[in-house]
Parts: sequence; structure tokens; C-alpha cells
Amino acid sequence: MARARGVRLLALESVDSTNDEARRLIESGERGPLWIVAARQTRGHGRLGREWISPAGNLHASFILSDFGEQSVAPQLGFVAGLAALSALRAATGEAGRFALKWPNDLLLDGTKLGGILLENVGAPTGDARAPLASVAVIGIGINCAEAPKNLSFEACALTSVGPNAPDAATLFTHLSDALVATLDLWRCGEGFARVREAWLKKAAYIGAPIRVELPRETVEGRFETIDANGRLVLATRDGARTIEAGDVSLGPRQSAGGAL
Ligand code: BTN
Repeated sequence: MARARGVRLLALESVDSTNDEARRLIESGERGPLWIVAARQTRGHGRLGREWISPAGNLHASFILSDFGEQSVAPQLGFVAGLAALSALRAATGEAGRFALKWPNDLLLDGTKLGGILLENVGAPTGDARAPLASVAVIGIGINCAEAPKNLSFEACALTSVGPNAPDAATLFTHLSDALVATLDLWRCGEGFARVREAWLKKAAYIGAPIRVELPRETVEGRFETIDANGRLVLATRDGARTIEAGDVSLGPRQSAGGAL
């Protein structure tokens, strides 16, 4: 399906980061749609500048997309990609209920982080003096198919925990590339974001639950109400509703320094 839509594939054995490779290709004229997949990454990175440990056997892929409409809708692509990854995981494993999406861009298996999405924008020269740069999106997706990295600041798991029929990275990628085309069709350059949001919310972790959100200068606590029409997290706090653009979500209130009585 993806190939029929003109999506090309660049498969690499090893690269620093598929997102970085995407950036270099865009800078030299590539405009996609193109998947870059690498068996391993030597300098994989995640959100908030974190390292993304990328051993062979796990899935490391980046999708280059241009001509998606207004730049303002680009952040919605994280939700599009999350939904596509979830549907690929369900199709490849036959498991319906064990996967969930954690705001903004995490993939969970049985409540533990299985993968993540790193959405970046690259300014691409247009040659037009009136609008010299066009924005090209890079959607980076990492899924721990074979191995869960250890000693992280959070717990991680691998797809092998679904059982002996767990798909390998190549099989999962086949599902992912088709699912992304289908989800981009649903999204329609932002016109269909309401339906993406609705589908995303059905699979979202922690809705209605007490959560805490780490922001650069503070941690806010409250109940996870929903995501708004732009994908921002809406938190019901003691001081009223608060809308959050970016942050790190954990379940439950912060542990008090003294511990439980
Ligand atoms: C996160 O949860 O922090 C996002 C992780 C994104 C990792 C993927 S692996 C493919 C692509 N290349 C990278 O360097 N990062 C993304």
C-alpha cells in the first residue's frame, strides 16, 4: 500500500540517527515521502535531548513528509504517527488491548514504555525569495522489538513480552508503513484531526487518572481530562484547568518526601 502511494524506502545497516540522516537528505534536496530505516543507530536520540538506545533487532525508522499544509498543523503528526504505530502493533501481534498511547508520543505495552516518537521539522530551501524556507516534517519512530534498554530513568519493555509470536522489526515495519499511509489519509493535512484525536483518545493511557507532568521549571499535578482540539493536554488541577503544550507525564501524584504513613 505504501509503495503504491509513491513512498520510497532507504534501508541502512547502521547510521548515527535516522532522524539526522533525514535532516541531511532534506538539506540536500530530498522531500519525501521517504522512509529511512536502520538496523541499528549509533547516536539515536529521543525527546528532550535524551539518548535513544538502538540495538540491532529494534525498529528505528524516520519518515520524511512535505506538502502537508500549514506549518501550524505539524505538531498533530505526532498523534497521527502514534495512532499508526498502535494500529501496526495490533495488526502485527493480534493483541488488541495491551497497547496504549501515552501523551504526547509514547507507546506503551502493558503500561510500560515500548517505544516513542520524535517529531522534528527541517527548514528546506525553496529557491523562492518571498518564502525561502518550506517546512519538511521528520517523524522518527523507535520501537523496542527485541530488547528493552536497561538503566534508564524510566522503565522500558520489549515487544518480545507479547509472547512467542512477537513480530520482528521488519514485519512490524511492513504494518507500520501501511498504517501510516492510512492514518495520513484520515488526517487529511489537519482537516481530519478531530477524528485522529477521537481515535487517539480511545487508546490513551491515564485519561481521568491523577497524573503529574514535569515541566522545565515545575511539576504540576492533577487529573488528566483530555487533549484539546490542538493536541494539548488538559489537566484539572486544584487551581482550575491547565493546558499543557509539552511535558513528561507520569501516573499518580508526586511521592511526598516523608513517604507513606
Ligand atoms: C522518545 O520517546 O523520546 C522518542 C524516541 C524516538 C526514537 C526514534 S528511533 C528512530 C528515530 N531516530 C532517532 O534518533 N530517534 C527516533
